[in-house]
Amino acid sequence: MRLTDDEKRMRDGAEGEAVAAAMDLLVRYGDALGAERLVETRNVAGTMTQPSPAKAKLVEEGGWAKAYAVINLDCDRDIEIPRMKVPTCQLQHGFAGDAAGLTHYADSSIRLQDDAESYFSDRGVNILATCTPYQVGNLPVRGEHCAWMESSAVVYCNSVLGARTNCEGASSTGAAALTGKIPYWGNHLPENPHATHLVRADVTVDGFQEWGMLGYFVGELVQEARPAVVGKLGQPDLADLKHFGAATATSGGVELYHLPGITPEAPTLEAAFGGARITEPVSYGARERAAVYDALNSRGTSRDVDFVLLGCPHASLDQVAQLAARLEGRRLHADTELWVMMPRALSSVAFRNGYTRTITAAGGRVLTDSCPAMSRAAPPGTRVFATDSAKQAHYLPAILGIEAWFGTLTECVDAALTGRWGGGLR
Ligand code: F3S
Repeated sequence: MRLTDDEKRMRDGAEGEAVAAAMDLLVRYGDALGAERLVETRNVAGTMTQPSPAKAKLVEEGGWAKAYAVINLDCDRDIEIPRMKVPTCQLQHGFAGDAAGLTHYADSSIRLQDDAESYFSDRGVNILATCTPYQVGNLPVRGEHCAWMESSAVVYCNSVLGARTNCEGASSTGAAALTGKIPYWGNHLPENPHATHLVRADVTVDGFQEWGMLGYFVGELVQEARPAVVGKLGQPDLADLKHFGAATATSGGVELYHLPGITPEAPTLEAAFGGARITEPVSYGARERAAVYDALNSRGTSRDVDFVLLGCPHASLDQVAQLAARLEGRRLHADTELWVMMPRALSSVAFRNGYTRTITAAGGRVLTDSCPAMSRAAPPGTRVFATDSAKQAHYLPAILGIEAWFGTLTECVDAALTGRWGGGLR
């Protein structure tokens, strides 16, 4: 890779050992990818605070500096970690104190994470603690080069915001935070964002559940390619596109999609394909929709629901308000738990507006920072859960060995109130 004079200085230690290690990592990473150079970024979303047994051991041996050196910089020397060079945020991590005692999640992990938060806050990491940083203050502009992890955030960043990021890892974001650089390849290159596949919705796609199912279909179809989607599409909102993108990155590995007339880089279908030949459309019709629904409900047998999980990706205020409206003056079934996950920064507004009071009065919980898939923990004794999220319906049965039902918010709330799953494809 070609380095600028400034980058060479960093590599040679002019800004300290940690920055030199970070630059060394970026050069090795960029060379392996075939990148010709680095690009500047002032927007890093990574993970430093997520607890794990390996991290706990490193912290015991040499403190958080050692853990950051090994995990985030791939460096085994004892080095000091300076303040991050560019704006950097922590994505979702493990459960926080608000979940203490609700699951088998270890208190020691919560304490370790608290400790990490204070260490990394001192070094300028903004503890957003959410998979949706774009909902709580990290909103890149069109064309901005970012270095983000978390597949659901990456696909939102590229597709809905028109910013540019590859799906980075703990090490590349750790190095980007200290240098303000990331390899210039993949989604950063101007010739790469164009569509490769065309999907046509021949059934109406409108509302949260329908956008999630369409996303699940599209991801499975195109895998890591770039779809453009046309057809009978209603006007999506933030939550719909959050769900759609997360689903494409769950059944496949989509990092960028186009909805002509909706997403910023596709004013037209022709623009989505960048002037290249538009491919033959693949139909998403009634049969495909039913097949997606069946796949997402294939791990449900018992209709007795122990647990309802909402807020994947982390819920918006509007989603939490809708939940509160459905729970107003009602009470959950005695044997059923309901959790909604949301960014902590938004939970203070949910509290202020009374949504939290309504949800907790009904017996539900508003939780932050993490989710059952991320922290690998659900309410003790959960055998069957219900969710409105295609991503959680896909992952949680495999992670926790539990059954899953996928449906609408109304169906999930009904399950929480009655303890029974009554959902079905309408
Ligand atoms: Fe977020 Fe967990 Fe879903 S991290 S995207 S709520 S799997």
